[in-house]
Order: sequence, then C-alpha cells, then structure tokens
Amino acid sequence: MAAIFPARIFSLAAAAALLIAVSCPGCDAALSTKYYDKTCPGLQPVVRSAIAQVVAADPRTGASVLRLFFHDCFVNGCDGSVLLDDAPGLTAEKAAGPNLGSLRGFEAVDAVKARVEAACKATVSCADILALASRDAVSLLGGPTWTVKLGRKDARTASQAAANANLPGPGASLASQLASFAAKGLSARDMTALAGAHTVGRARCQTFRGRVNGGDANVNATFATQLQQGCPAANGVGDSSLAPLDAETPDVFDNGYFLGLAQQRGLLHSDQELFSGGSQDALVRKYGGNAGMFANDFARAMVKMGSLEPAAGTPVEVRINCRKPN
Ligand code: HEM
Repeated sequence: MAAIFPARIFSLAAAAALLIAVSCPGCDAALSTKYYDKTCPGLQPVVRSAIAQVVAADPRTGASVLRLFFHDCFVNGCDGSVLLDDAPGLTAEKAAGPNLGSLRGFEAVDAVKARVEAACKATVSCADILALASRDAVSLLGGPTWTVKLGRKDARTASQAAANANLPGPGASLASQLASFAAKGLSARDMTALAGAHTVGRARCQTFRGRVNGGDANVNATFATQLQQGCPAANGVGDSSLAPLDAETPDVFDNGYFLGLAQQRGLLHSDQELFSGGSQDALVRKYGGNAGMFANDFARAMVKMGSLEPAAGTPVEVRINCRKPN
C-alpha cells in the first residue's frame, strides 16, 4: 500500500478509503473471513453499528475496547478470557496487576454481544466480537480498517498468573517490551506499530507519576510541569486522575503519538523507551512523518496479534454471556 498521508492528519475520509489487505504467513489457518457467512451473515454490520453507538457516546471507550483485545490476545491467545468474571473455580484476569482498576469497556462488549445474540443466537464467540469491535473502533476513531478473519472460540478458563506474567507494564524498558512481544511471535516493528494504539485513550496518574515528577531525564519539561498539576509527586494524591496518552489528539487514531515521542512527550516511561536512543528511534520518526506507513503496519500487526491462539487442549466454547462460561 503506497498511500501517503500528511504528517499528522489522517482524515476520516482517507481512513474509510483505506481498507488494508494484509497477509499473515504462519497465522492461524483455521480462521476464515467466511466463518459466519452461513450462520450469521449480518454479523459485521451489527457489530459496527453497536460499536459506533458506543464510540459516539464516548470515544475513549473505543480505545478501551481496543486495549481489551490486546489484553485478551497476550494472555493465552485471543480467547475472550479477559472478559470472564470471578466465579467458583475461576480466578478472573480482571484482577491481575495490569488490569485491576484499569481495564474498561466491558459493558460496551456486553452491549455488542447482546445485539449479536439477538441476530444470531449462540453462534458468535466473544473473542470474535472483540476482534471485530476493536477493528471497528479504530476505524471509527479515524484509523485504518482491515479484514478480520473469524472462527475464534471462547475459553472456559482464565489465568490471572499469565496476565501478570505476559502483559508489559508502564515502567518497562525497551528490551523487556521487545521480549514480551517476541514471546508472542511479534517483531520489533510489530511492537512499535501496535504501541501506536496509544494515539487514543487515557492513562491514570499512578502509571506516569514517576516519569513526570523527576524520575525520567528524557521528558519535555513543559509537558512534565503541566502533568504535575493533576499528578503530583506524593503517592496517593490524584492516583486515578487521567491524562491522554497522545496529548494533542487523544480521540483521533492518527500518528500523533509518534510525533509526541519525538518531542519527549511520551506519557508513560514505556512509551518514551521507544524513542530514547535505541533501536526503534528511526521507525518512530518514520511513523511520525508518514501516517500511511503507520496505518499499514498497525493493521498488519493487529492481524498478527489477532491470530494468537489458545494453547492446544484449552477447553473452549461459544459463550452466551461474555462474563461467564456457559
Ligand atoms: C507496548 C507495551 C504496552 C504497555 C507497557 C502498555 C501500557 C499501558 C498502560 C499503563 C495504560 C494506562 C492504563 C491505566 O492507567 O489504567 C495503557 C492504556 C492503553 N493501552 Fe497500552 N500498553 C502497551 C501496548 C498496547 C497495545 C499493543 C495496545 C493495543 C493494540 C494498547 C492499547 C492501549 C489503549 C487504547 C489504552 C487506553 C485505554 C483507555 O483509555 O481506556 N496498549 N497501556
């Protein structure tokens, strides 16, 4: 795809025209674009209109749904396990360190699932709904779109320990982020593109307090001072106050995140690690200068991430209620 967009502006019209065709060698061969063609032919418009309502009411929730997909796929594959509530014999991933008090968007997924159940009873997995809803949220926020292969199944179990072990935290170094993604078969380029998801959404003070209160040298001084207003150094003060991950355009899926990194305006320490004299600096600059390249790479990497499978032998089903096994 040779489309080139101006440095920051990645307009809705351009995004709508940009259906990115991605191939994924080695990805799950069982997934298919035609999986529900006979059993639920109206699926994709139903998901799209349901998530469009969600995003219109609150754009941030589109970002939150996208993050849910990441936190699903990185923990034993894209199997809807992140959506499960605690139950006897089941310890939810929701209470894992990277998720507790932080993940949101569950009600939005419930709302999409309810619409899908009304159209096609007990047919479409929550894992597939999350894959479609994330794709649609990105495009509704102004980003690219891509074809989602379908046929994922929902796990009957969850693993809080795997969530704690597999999800990188806001203090992560570049090396440890690269290692987390490599462990999932994702390249450095995939990782940097996927981190571009932080062009939308918000983070809580407790995830960036250190960075903006003297903990990091590579932070823009004006930016840090502004953030200290809502997020002072003292632990416990303003812990949950929010700041945008992309200060300029937090509700637009553009390449502004990368422009921010190049100005040392990354919100999280882990964000700024992508542009701190290391291996990803050149790519960050490229994405900052070429929105189309970022859009292409992001779409390709989402397809790869979305094809991570649960371990063989994991008990699976199509859940009726995304929060509990049938
Ligand atoms: C590269 C390693 C990553 C780290 C260390 C990381 C860490 C974080 C943290 C700490 C937050 C703020 C959480 C809070 O304060 O409650 C956040 C938010 C977010 N993350 Fe990441 N993340 C990473 C990669 C990704 C990826 C790959 C995606 C999606 C493809 C993603 C999507 C998001 C979104 C959209 C938000 C905002 C959510 C909202 O506003 O509700 N992140 N991330």
